[in-house]
Amino acid sequence: GKVRAPTHIISTISDDRGDEPCYAGVKMSSIIEQGLGVGDVISLLWFKRSLPRYCTRFIEMCIMLCADHGPCVSGAHNSIVTARAGKDLVSSLVSGLLTIGPRFGGAIDDAARYFKDAYDRGLTPYEFVESMKKKGIRVPGIGHRIKSRDNRDKRVEFLQQYARENFPSVKYMEYAVQVETYTLSKANNLVMNVDGAIGSLFLDLLAGSGLFTKPEIDEIVEIGYLNGLFVLARSIGLIG
Ligand code: ACO
Ligand code: LMR
Repeated sequence: GKVRAPTHIISTISDDRGDEPCYAGVKMSSIIEQGLGVGDVISLLWFKRSLPRYCTRFIEMCIMLCADHGPCVSGAHNSIVTARAGKDLVSSLVSGLLTIGPRFGGAIDDAARYFKDAYDRGLTPYEFVESMKKKGIRVPGIGHRIKSRDNRDKRVEFLQQYARENFPSVKYMEYAVQVETYTLSKANNLVMNVDGAIGSLFLDLLAGSGLFTKPEIDEIVEIGYLNGLFVLARSIGLIG
């Protein structure tokens, strides 16, 4: 058979040199035999380690809950217009994905960054929100066009309830809830949105699982790949 040319790139997440591919050192057969799921595969390929079931279930819940949100949101709007213009699946998908950013679905990393920084520095919600206002930055993870104090986002409630019941600690999430209480005193629609819920809860997942060192957590938050959860999830709806 043909011999592959040597690669110029070394992947530290997957390896296909044996008789079956390995994800972060775990053989494909082991993944199948153990009945692992998408959350486990994400743990291996994004975090290079196996995570306990309560974490992988949380990751899977994020993916399921963010898979779609109707035709009016930026991403779905673009994908639908592109598909109706006769373009192919990949073009339609990426035209939707390209709208993901600070206003739509791409605020998870910034929410994690700002909530972590504020909590770790011991800022009160008042000090945090007012300092953001002074800098002219909208608080990432707060605010929604149609959700409000009296019309809460069910996705946020599901994730929070799951974490309260299953995570060893939800200190970052509780801090984000206190921030929401303060922003709601300013305007009815300044609720915690799904990006804020995922961002704050992922901090709790990273810090509470005991499987990540502090420098690793800082690096994950600094590099910023939690938005990938929304990108991956919403691709499901956009493809549909
Ligand atoms: N922090 C502070 N003030 C805010 C925030 C916030 N997060 N959101 C809205 N406001 C205030 C501002 O005064 C804003 O006025 P401005 O436009 O002069 O800055 C005013 O409310 C406008 O509010 P709305 O018209 O109700 O907000 P809009 O519908 O335009 O925006 C949005 C909704 C984009 C989600 C906004 O709240 C925001 O930017 N939030 C932060 C980013 C974020 O979390 N994005 C993820 C959303 S969830 C998702 O996409 C899956
Ligand atoms: C979504 O998940 O698409 C929404 O929360 C965003 C929106 O603008 O409603």
